[in-house]
Amino acid sequence: QPTTLRDGYGRVARDLRVSVTDRCNLRCTYCMPAEGLPWMAKPEMLTDDELVRLVGLFVDLGVTQVRLTGGEPLLRRSLVDVVRRIAALPDRPRIALTTNGIGLDRLAAPLADAGLDRVNVSLDTIDPQVFRRLTLRDRFGDVESGLKAAADAGLTPVKVNAVAMRDVNDHAVADLLQWCLDRGYELRFIEQMPLDAQHAWQREAMVTAAEIHERLGERFTLTPLPDADRGSAPAERFLVDGGPATVGVIASVSAPFCGACDRTRLTADGQVRNCLFSRGETDLRALLRGGADDERIMRAIVGEMAVKRAGHGIDDPAFVQPDRPMSSIGG
Ligand code: GTP
Ligand code: 5AD
Ligand code: SF4
Repeated sequence: QPTTLRDGYGRVARDLRVSVTDRCNLRCTYCMPAEGLPWMAKPEMLTDDELVRLVGLFVDLGVTQVRLTGGEPLLRRSLVDVVRRIAALPDRPRIALTTNGIGLDRLAAPLADAGLDRVNVSLDTIDPQVFRRLTLRDRFGDVESGLKAAADAGLTPVKVNAVAMRDVNDHAVADLLQWCLDRGYELRFIEQMPLDAQHAWQREAMVTAAEIHERLGERFTLTPLPDADRGSAPAERFLVDGGPATVGVIASVSAPFCGACDRTRLTADGQVRNCLFSRGETDLRALLRGGADDERIMRAIVGEMAVKRAGHGIDDPAFVQPDRPMSSIGG
């Protein structure tokens, strides 16, 4: 019985990302079309019992951090309960959440109370007009109050994730950083990846980490933190004006961190994926509902992770975007 999820390149998965729903209350243009997507039907989705059982098996296989994602995870009505049950597992993992922040004003305190350790909030702009143009919803204020509630509830460090987009928010990266610095949030910029439901991503249109760095450098002095401290973290981090505050850049495309990847993923319909970009997945839901015992399910998880590829292959001429969009894989 193996006790860790080791792939063919020696990487060990410690970080389980669980998508608890594929639905979302925003329509970020780089993610999904205005009309939304054909959402999963309820019977296709894992029940809380199924989800918690699978998370427990991943923990038995060496996972030490569970990150709940979506779609928008706060839309799952039972989320607080799910957190409480994961926190009650033997060998309790650290529990994190990646959310767009809407609803966090009300849920941050109950989630913290249930055992949530920290949150990452997606926010690409602090201009309410740009926010509306980008997400097709007028909800900047909800995200702002959600962030504040998260910090007040001690879900720290509160991180902010921003996808940089040309002629949308790229001119304002320094303003966003100043806003986060003023509030004590740790900002990370993300290179846009080919994971949109519309399959419209173009490499040439992507704002690169180098461009973000250059723009930030016009207003701030950035000092790289030692690479040795990075571990498997996706972000390259810099001290801002001598620190202690930092800013990060997640250069998934121009400088992939696949070599240090420690992630595994579970979708809301019970498929385990070894990578954001994997073409295949393994159906744990069918095993669960077919009455498989723990050992059988664990073997399936081990098998999926064993075939993880070395990297995402975005630069490979034969690259094919996965069928599942980001909103259904979980960011
Ligand atoms: P921390 O533990 O706080 O560092 O979280 P995180 O950065 O791993 O999680 P988060 O959900 O905040 O992810 C931030 C961004 O990192 C996502 O939006 C993705 O763009 C990117 N990302 C996360 N996981 C992967 C991955 O496995 N591969 C690649 N290429 N990018 C990823
Ligand atoms: N590339 C990079 N990041 C993306 N996100 C959504 N779609 C993409 C993409 N194509 C981000 C969201 C959020 C996180 C879950 O993933 O903005 O911060
Ligand atoms: Fe929703 Fe996240 Fe997609 Fe935006 S990027 S539409 S917040 S799932």
